[in-house]
Amino acid sequence: MSDWKDLKAVKEVADLSFQMYQKGWDEANGGNITYLLTDDEAASLNYVPGTGKKLTLTEGIPDALRGKYVLVTASGSYFRELKDDLDHLLGIIYLPEEGDEYEIAAGLIDNRPTSELGSHITTHAVRLAVDSNQRVVMHNHATHVLAMTHCGPTDEREFTLALWRMITEGVVVFPDGVGLVPWCVAGTPEIARETNERMKTRRCVVWQYHGVFTTGDSMHDAFGLLETIDKCAEVWLLSQAAGGKNPGIPDQGLKDTAKWYGTTLREGYVD
Ligand code: 13P
Ligand code: ZN
Repeated sequence: MSDWKDLKAVKEVADLSFQMYQKGWDEANGGNITYLLTDDEAASLNYVPGTGKKLTLTEGIPDALRGKYVLVTASGSYFRELKDDLDHLLGIIYLPEEGDEYEIAAGLIDNRPTSELGSHITTHAVRLAVDSNQRVVMHNHATHVLAMTHCGPTDEREFTLALWRMITEGVVVFPDGVGLVPWCVAGTPEIARETNERMKTRRCVVWQYHGVFTTGDSMHDAFGLLETIDKCAEVWLLSQAAGGKNPGIPDQGLKDTAKWYGTTLREGYVD
């Protein structure tokens, strides 16, 4: 096997997981990342199916992901430490063509994949069906979005509009809006199901009182999406705290911005 740690995606996870920690989005073991390897990257591993440690996925393995390899952070991994201990805190799993057990193909020494693997794997399947380039799923506890679930709108359309009205970039970067999953226990098939339902038509789903799930073509794409959404939430919180006298970008402004930048706003959100 060529060294899996030479993969570009490994270097990106190492770098961005540390940046997320520095932003305060990943206290202790908060947050997890998965990346679906390309066929060429998978072939370079020279992994022999059936030889790695086997584990079960409660949610089952989606057909679209059978035969694929996924880079995944370890459950309990501290993002401030990840870049310095890739062998234990990161690794690659193989999702077999048949059966319910997946295999550890590299890394994850003395560890297992994130407790949110079910949500990640099913989200990959949902997003791949929409866009075959989308390979990344990121979860973390982005502070401002999380805070906004405590005091902002509880309806996902209203939540999205509140974000869009804060900064011109909103409708450019996330014209599909964000989904909002009412509070559920993390790591359960229920939260995976609720997330997936919303991921069919969006790249970002917020978990009430917990955090954020974003997807993208690349690690930087998913990270940039999250940065933008968290910035909108930060400005919303700041402006509310300061009295929030102004209504923000009006409906016509949202429509004009989307038109100018060539994005299509989620149907039914703006009159
Ligand atoms: P893991 O350490 O299992 O990845 O869990 C972290 C987390 O953020 C749970 O929602
Ligand atoms: Zn979490």
